[in-house]
Amino acid sequence: MLHRDQPRTSAPAVGARGPRIVASVLPADLARLGEEVAALEAAGVDWIQWDVMDACFVPNLTFGPDVIAAARRHTALPFEAQLMVANPDVLIARCVEAGCERVIVHAESTHNLHRSLMHVAESGGRAGVAMNPATPVEAVVNVLDLVDLVLVMTVNPGFGGQAYLHSMEPKLRAARAAIEATGRTIWLEVDGGIAPQTIVSCAGAGADVFVTGSTLFQDPQGPAHAVQELRALAAQGMGQRQA
Ligand code: DX5
Repeated sequence: MLHRDQPRTSAPAVGARGPRIVASVLPADLARLGEEVAALEAAGVDWIQWDVMDACFVPNLTFGPDVIAAARRHTALPFEAQLMVANPDVLIARCVEAGCERVIVHAESTHNLHRSLMHVAESGGRAGVAMNPATPVEAVVNVLDLVDLVLVMTVNPGFGGQAYLHSMEPKLRAARAAIEATGRTIWLEVDGGIAPQTIVSCAGAGADVFVTGSTLFQDPQGPAHAVQELRALAAQGMGQRQA
């Protein structure tokens, strides 16, 4: 559990396209969710990701729109929902209504990805598209005009605390190239095993949004320290890529 009294470090001003540090609430104490999201805000995360799981698309079951809505009034941070569910279309509008600015749809989870992403916009949200490790970037190149974020999973979805898949870094470079070819501003997000030991190389491969759960909740110096350290290392990796 995070403690609200964690001092918020003076995180460096985040540039327009500087690294974004995003909290997964998967490790949070769900019995104290309001306090946990308030503590994440105090720690300086940029937004919160809700891992919505249905025990079908992934072998785990978590929370849905009602829980997200309950947490909404406890923080001003933006919310995004990652729909790790077998039928995302039935949850898109409800996640937006619950307070998510963005809804991320897995390319593998819908028979018509283009229509599902259109549904996010029709519901008033911003759309993101996610890929499991085995899914090639080609699966999303035809929907990049519909999204403001691409999520490359660096673990197999379902659980926190897994080992980062270094093998995803060529895919990150390919996704970054596909995004740059559009000429549009699209975030490239990674999720799974993001830690001080892994964030520099995935930033160097093209990521600029970093979702983390274990590192935030397990840092012995508190979440604010984790945010500050990850942000600095991510900026280092991004700088190496752009050099
Ligand atoms: C997997 C989850 C995790 C979580 C972050 O489905 O999406 O990746 O958000 O987990 P950590 O940071 O503990 O690897």
